[in-house]
Amino acid sequence: MSRIVYVNGDYVPEDQAKISIFDRGFLMADGVYEVSSVLGGKLADYPGHVARLHRSLDELQMTSPVSDDELLEIHRELIRRNDLDEGLVYLQITRGAHDRDFAWPSDLTPSLVLFTQGKHFEDAEGPKHGIKVISQPDMRWGRRDIKTVQLLYPSFAKMQAKAAGKDDAWLVEDGLVTEGTSNNAYIVTKEGTIVTRNLSSDILHGITRASVLKLAAEAQMKVEERPFTIQEAQGAAEAFITAASTFVCPVVEIDGVVLGDGVPGPIAKRLREIYISHARASAI
Ligand code: PDD
Repeated sequence: MSRIVYVNGDYVPEDQAKISIFDRGFLMADGVYEVSSVLGGKLADYPGHVARLHRSLDELQMTSPVSDDELLEIHRELIRRNDLDEGLVYLQITRGAHDRDFAWPSDLTPSLVLFTQGKHFEDAEGPKHGIKVISQPDMRWGRRDIKTVQLLYPSFAKMQAKAAGKDDAWLVEDGLVTEGTSNNAYIVTKEGTIVTRNLSSDILHGITRASVLKLAAEAQMKVEERPFTIQEAQGAAEAFITAASTFVCPVVEIDGVVLGDGVPGPIAKRLREIYISHARASAI
């Protein structure tokens, strides 16, 4: 089934969508993106994603080619045209097309692309059984707080995990876990405290992370924002990840060490339920 996608003002079948070979997103990974989840045909945590998009654009001295109202309408129109009940909307803004040069002219028109991906969150295997992760050195650039399309290193780390028969990688810098390849990383201590790395340019400021930490505090769970080591994680009661593409997903093994009894832990399971009901109730 052919999807309808959005490219620079037009809604077209996916096989007719075109972007210039001179687009700096293609030549230089000069672009930013967002991924929002769709539940019941509505956008979850959308205001957070738009706010982060603006932050990414500002940090890279880029502008959006459309207003926020237009952007929301494009998301909704794509959901309608693709009859999407559950899944994701991917959006990418690149600096635009120009003959290849490291320096860019100031008058480029940014490119805007959006497409949908169908996904059944409830049937996903990861959240049901928990995922297994390996550690990998974090060799990404130093501005991981900007959601750029430079995803080669995280893709590479994920492939390393797959080659090892596991599901994902947790990235480690100076002996401390930064985050997952495309998610934020958490542990739950034996005392029941949820620990996740504090915000800085070392990690992406996850929108799901912000909601989950708020919901955890509201549910009287203890939260500590600080870095942790792989060793501490291996000795933790539980571990989990968060992202728009997976919500809250338990981790049951780290570098071959099984956590607890090897099944999703109660706190991760509860946070997943709480987050999904929040996301459904507040979706627009
Ligand atoms: N990734 N950290 C990284 C490096 C990410 O790529 C992501 C999201 C997150 C979680 O952020 P959020 O909760 O806002 O989705 C953390 C998206 C889902 C992706 O690249 O597909």
